[in-house]
Amino acid sequence: MSTTFQLDTATSRANPTPAPVKRLTIPAIRRRKKNGETQEPVVMLTAYTARQAQLLDEHCDLLLVGDSLGQVIYGLPSSVPVTLDMMIAHGAAVVRGSWHAAVLVDLPFGTYEGSPQQAFETSARILKETGAAGVKLEGGEAMAETVRFLTQRGIPVMGHVGLTPQAVNQLGGYGARGRDAAEAEKIINDAKALDEAGAFSIVVEGVVEPIAIAMTEAVSCPVIGIGGSARCDGQVLVVDDMVGMFERVPRFVKRYADVASVISQAAADYAAEVRNRSFPGIEQTYQPK
Ligand code: KIV
Repeated sequence: MSTTFQLDTATSRANPTPAPVKRLTIPAIRRRKKNGETQEPVVMLTAYTARQAQLLDEHCDLLLVGDSLGQVIYGLPSSVPVTLDMMIAHGAAVVRGSWHAAVLVDLPFGTYEGSPQQAFETSARILKETGAAGVKLEGGEAMAETVRFLTQRGIPVMGHVGLTPQAVNQLGGYGARGRDAAEAEKIINDAKALDEAGAFSIVVEGVVEPIAIAMTEAVSCPVIGIGGSARCDGQVLVVDDMVGMFERVPRFVKRYADVASVISQAAADYAAEVRNRSFPGIEQTYQPK
C-alpha cells in the first residue's frame, strides 16, 4: 500500500489528513489463522507517538502501545511504574497517527489484576479515551477468567505469556523462560487457557524456541512471537529496538537501522554549526521584503 498520508503544515505538524482506507479489525486479524494455519503472518510493532504511528502504520497489521514505553520513552527501570494515564495519552496519540493498523494498548501493572471488574473498568476507559481497538494483558491461567469477562463484554483481548515483564520482581530478571519441562508445560497451558477464554491472539515472549512452536500449534488463535520462533503466526518488536535506538541489543532483536547514530551525528553537526555561527544561514532566516 502506498501512503497518501499528508501533513497539514499550514496548521500543525501533527495534524494528519488520513488516507481513506478501512482500518483492520480485530476479527480480521483473528481470522488470519484458520485450522491451525496462518498464510499471512501478522506484522506488529510497538508505537508510542503520533509520528511513529504515521511512519509505521502502512507496514503493520497491529500497532501496540506497549507499556515498554516506561523504559523506552520515560527512562524508567521497568514497566512496573507505568500508569494508566501514560498509556491513555500515548494510546490516543498512536490512534491519531494511524489509519490502517488496528491499535492495541497494554493494561499497565496494577490496573487489572485485582478482579475482572477492575480490568473491565480500566479497559473501558482505554477504549473510550484512546479509540484503540483492544487491550493486551500479561498472565496465563490466572487471567483466563478476566479474559473471558472482557471478551464477553465487547473488549478484544490479546494475551501475553512466557517472559512477562510486569512480573520482573517475581521472575528475577528478563532471561528466557521455559528451560525446564515444568515451566515449558505451564507456558503452553497458560496459552491454552487464554485461547479457550476468548483471547483473539497471544504474545509469547522470551521462551526457548520449541515452546513457541508447540504453543503456536496448540492454540487456535494467532500467536505473536518476540524472542519466540519464525514459526509463530506473527512477530512483534519494540520499534526503538528495531530501528537501533539503543546500544543494548537483546538476542531476540534484529536491528534494521542505526537511527541512534543518525540522531547523534545530526546533533553533532548542528552543535558545530551553532558554535561556528554558520546556522542559521540565509535560507533559515526571514529577510525584509
Ligand atoms: O510492552 C511491550 O512493548 C510489549 C511487547 C514487547 C510485546 O509487551
